Amino acid sequence: MLEHGGRLRQAAARYGIALDQWLDLSTGINPAGYPVPAIPASAWQRLPEDDDGLERAAANYYGTPELLPVAGSQAAIQALPQVLPGQRVSLLAPGYAEHAHAWRERAPRLIAADEIEPASDASDIVVLINPNNPTGARFDRGRLLEWHARLAARGGWLVVDEAFIDADPAGSLAGSAGQPGLVVLRSLGKFFGLAGARVGFVLAPEALRAALAEKLGPWTVSGPARHAACAALADHSWQTRMRDALKRDGERLAALLAESGLGQPEGPALFKWIVHPRAAALHASLCRRGILCRLFESPFSLRFGLPPHEAGWLRLRAALAGALDEAG
Ligand SMILES: Cc1ncc(COP(=O)(O)O)c(C=O)c1O
Repeated sequence: MLEHGGRLRQAAARYGIALDQWLDLSTGINPAGYPVPAIPASAWQRLPEDDDGLERAAANYYGTPELLPVAGSQAAIQALPQVLPGQRVSLLAPGYAEHAHAWRERAPRLIAADEIEPASDASDIVVLINPNNPTGARFDRGRLLEWHARLAARGGWLVVDEAFIDADPAGSLAGSAGQPGLVVLRSLGKFFGLAGARVGFVLAPEALRAALAEKLGPWTVSGPARHAACAALADHSWQTRMRDALKRDGERLAALLAESGLGQPEGPALFKWIVHPRAAALHASLCRRGILCRLFESPFSLRFGLPPHEAGWLRLRAALAGALDEAG
């Protein structure tokens, strides 16, 4: 199993700081997640059924009916290698490490952003993350469609993980879903903040969805999770308000990090990423102050999620000043 953000209990034990004293900025999950309505007893008691409105709400939200609900996009990341043919796999790196882990038996080539174009001519499968986690790199929709066309012309596949696109979805390929050779992964864990519900969607041609559904088996998404997801996807006024709020908060986080002297951060509204030679020392120093961010080692860098309240913003600013002093 790979390391992930959000392992607050481990940090609490290691640094001897009580769980409730921490400011956890180690994930890119929206701290103001969707306020899930009361779950009806029937959602707990009955087996989930396809015609409960979830697929309809999702089709409306994503702009395509070519979708399959899954237990978080992680479930699809793990299952895709079992249903996608092709030996030559190229993966964007650095990127969300679960992709490389899932494809490890096909010895994937790790490619940088400027190698995607040649890779789309020399691979059977190219896996990208847009916007990328952790680097924040964004890919233009037109270029993505061009890379997809090159791959699809040879029977290849472009997989685009759009887990972090919802706050600014203009560059999404969701509307092109259903075309041969295109898989788009979406998550309700980030923008909607429903990471614990484990709901995501695979947007892909019918035959691939059927093969995935067969692998994943029946009732992959629980009744309560379907109920919560359905409400979140249908609530357009919450989505609009949240996009505005996240835009403001994302800009505020970028400014705070830049002003602290850490460097110029990159990333979508939900997180910011900074390459820094003293990242490990800074990470430890912030931990000693009860602030957990995410440390990456290749390259040495830090990723910060959004503070959940005003006190958290103030605490982050003060802690960064102290940590930078200490790390020298
Ligand atoms: C880029 C990316 N894709 C997919 C996932 C998996 O998200 P989930 O399984 O909650 O949909 C994550 C989780 O951190 C992620 O960062």
